Amino acid sequence: MDKTLGVAVVGCGTISNMHLNAIKQMKVAKLLFVCDIDVDKARKTAFEYDCKYTDDYKNLICNPNIDIIHILTPHYLHSEMAIEAFNAGKNVVLEKPIGISMKDLKELNKISDKSEPYIAVVLQNRYNPISLYLKKVVESGEYGKLIGTKGIVAWYRSKEYYENSNWRGEWASEGGGVLINQAIHTIDLMQWIGGKVTAVKGHIDNHYHPYIEVEDTALATLYYDNNTVGNFYATNNNGINSSVELEFVFEKATFVQKNEELIKITSGDKSEVVESNCANKGEKGYWGQGHRIYIEDAYNHILNKEKPFITIKEALVANEIVLGIYESSKTNEKYSLNYVE
Ligand SMILES: NC(=O)c1ccc[n+]([C@@H]2O[C@H](COP(=O)([O-])OP(=O)(O)OC[C@H]3O[C@@H](n4cnc5c(N)ncnc54)[C@H](O)[C@@H]3O)[C@@H](O)[C@H]2O)c1
Repeated sequence: MDKTLGVAVVGCGTISNMHLNAIKQMKVAKLLFVCDIDVDKARKTAFEYDCKYTDDYKNLICNPNIDIIHILTPHYLHSEMAIEAFNAGKNVVLEKPIGISMKDLKELNKISDKSEPYIAVVLQNRYNPISLYLKKVVESGEYGKLIGTKGIVAWYRSKEYYENSNWRGEWASEGGGVLINQAIHTIDLMQWIGGKVTAVKGHIDNHYHPYIEVEDTALATLYYDNNTVGNFYATNNNGINSSVELEFVFEKATFVQKNEELIKITSGDKSEVVESNCANKGEKGYWGQGHRIYIEDAYNHILNKEKPFITIKEALVANEIVLGIYESSKTNEKYSLNYVE
């Protein structure tokens, strides 16, 4: 490939090392800038990763050498920054969630049909071997109809986690709690693998983090268009960050993801391990190791002028389900999803 992509990263916080280490490994790209409103953080990160720095995002979007901007900022800034970069002709790698309100989603949807530049959304757990395996199982129809799903996210977030980044824990800046921040990946897998979700009924609450205004616990029922349901539970109050549990029940077999292994259970309780997310074991493993694979794939798509795997349109679905659960919890009613068009 002749072209080297010029890259900039906005937001030098917790997740930035995952992105920066991945970018440094890309042969097709060169990290040019990092940006943070906290200029000390930007300077320190630039020193570590050997690039320039700025504290003003606007300096990046008018820089002709920058082809791709990674947006790793607080949630409330995602849609605004992504749209601004896109309109300036920059490709974007955007962390989840893409927005915290229906207004954000509608604004993003308006630009989602345009062919170039590209926006790739980081829902990296779709790249987990188990997720890809389950997607193929559904598509093959080999085990009959899907008759139910389950997703459990039991993690722990400390007081320091919320104190260290003041945008977390508030509706206006985080847009919610465990559901929109930690568990959106699992909601995404339940809908991406399980099929179209037409309605949700959910309940959110704060059981253990009195110093934040958003929820630390959420439960929901997802109503699929084939009349089956998905059962979902998420909490930030668990003793440890347990690996995410998933269950997909088909007429002829049940598939259970537990401890990063996928177990197939068939008649007579016969069970075997059929796939594993082995790379997800260890520190921060519960996040999934998809960042590097994800970024590499997104860059290749951008270079080849092809739409990335996870576009705004793809990411809108899980985001809208999350917002639907919040709405349902407010009214205690089932909430029908319209999906932004
Ligand atoms: N995909 C995943 O698995 C995953 C995991 C962790 C975090 N994330 C996402 O990454 C994003 C960042 O999370 P984090 O944990 O790194 O947060 P963080 O608070 O640690 O970092 C955010 C950084 O953005 C900076 N910032 C704020 N406003 C800015 C602005 N206007 N211009 C430039 N910089 C600005 C802050 O100073 C801070 O350094 C969030 O969207 C989060 O949901 C994704």
